[in-house]
Amino acid sequence: MHREVEISIIVPTYNERDNIAVLIERIDKALGQHRLNYEVIVVDDSSPDGTAVIAKNLSSKYPVKVIVREGKKGLSSAVLEGVKEAEGRFLVVMDADLQHPPELIPRLYQRAVEDSCEVVIASRYVPGGSPGQWSFTRKLMSKGATYMARILLPRVRHVKDPMSGFFLLRKDVLEGVKLNPRGFKILLEVLAKGNYRKVCEEPYVFGERLRGESKLGAKEIVDYIFHVVELSPRWVKFAIVGGVGTAVNLSIVALLRYLLNVVHVIAAAIGVEVSVLSNFYLNDIWTFKDSRKGSGLYRLVKFHVSSAAGIVVQYLTSNALFYSGIVHESVTSQFIGILMGFVANYLLSKRYVWRLS
Ligand code: GDD
Ligand code: MN
Repeated sequence: MHREVEISIIVPTYNERDNIAVLIERIDKALGQHRLNYEVIVVDDSSPDGTAVIAKNLSSKYPVKVIVREGKKGLSSAVLEGVKEAEGRFLVVMDADLQHPPELIPRLYQRAVEDSCEVVIASRYVPGGSPGQWSFTRKLMSKGATYMARILLPRVRHVKDPMSGFFLLRKDVLEGVKLNPRGFKILLEVLAKGNYRKVCEEPYVFGERLRGESKLGAKEIVDYIFHVVELSPRWVKFAIVGGVGTAVNLSIVALLRYLLNVVHVIAAAIGVEVSVLSNFYLNDIWTFKDSRKGSGLYRLVKFHVSSAAGIVVQYLTSNALFYSGIVHESVTSQFIGILMGFVANYLLSKRYVWRLS
């Protein structure tokens, strides 16, 4: 009798020979007890330790598919490769090293069905969950990364553990969604881009790694920061570009004044102009890269108008606040002026320069 697959469990592996058999036995036991029809999709990047061979041998006894890729291509892209092959109505993503207890899968599934959540995260940061025996630095890094995502990404704001590598989702959450295969954090991509209404979190205790070692290194951390920034709303990117522009502006003035002895009025003017040019360039190739319509020169001229308008708004706001007596202090007035100028420049850039609604 052939039953349809209900849950496809995607397990990326790199050097997990000592873990993969135990994992699959435990999955089989846990899902068998709940009569859940499943498949495991192991995506191995040609692990030198021969993980793929062991996984293939297991497929005579268990419903296991093995995908072997050439070269170590990264965790997220491995997961996406698995998604392509998955037949189940639900997908589970989990690590091979038993830090994610497979016994939790039926519970994740139950939550999805009973509470109609399209995404269910196995979470370390809801009551009952815990990151386990982590070093202080790793805990701090995990928390820091979590807050960064929650502050910068609106759809992640209410999620307690967006860094989790263990979660279940309905397959149609990914329908028509283009996910970025870079990096370590596939759940962030799913949360930022997927089609879902409700996210649930189910507590669990992150286990000790049984064998082998973690692949999370400095490169993954730097990638992560770029990843979150890339997923963040346009105004965040615009603000980052503005910050870079300020640094450019100050550097140019320092260079002209102290290296080339240029007089202040000229140095200041060149500083302003170069920073407007660099802001334009970065916003054009990054912040608004998807809406470059018509002539670039025309956009550049309009961007000068919008930047000038930002400065006028800043100046007027600052003076209005100060002289009306609403704010009694100069730096505070100026600061609020800067914020208002930023908003004006951003809205004009968006609507008028890059013509988005
Ligand atoms: N195919 C493939 N290719 N698999 C990989 C690669 C790769 O380049 N890099 C890592 N893996 C596999 C590992 O073999 C393991 O099964 C899983 O991906 C997670 O890798 P670990 O090295 O164990 O990661 P970790 O324990 O430091 O971090 C995990 O837990 C974090 C906290 O929940 C990951 O799941 C993170 O995504 C998660 O944030
Ligand atoms: Mn791990």
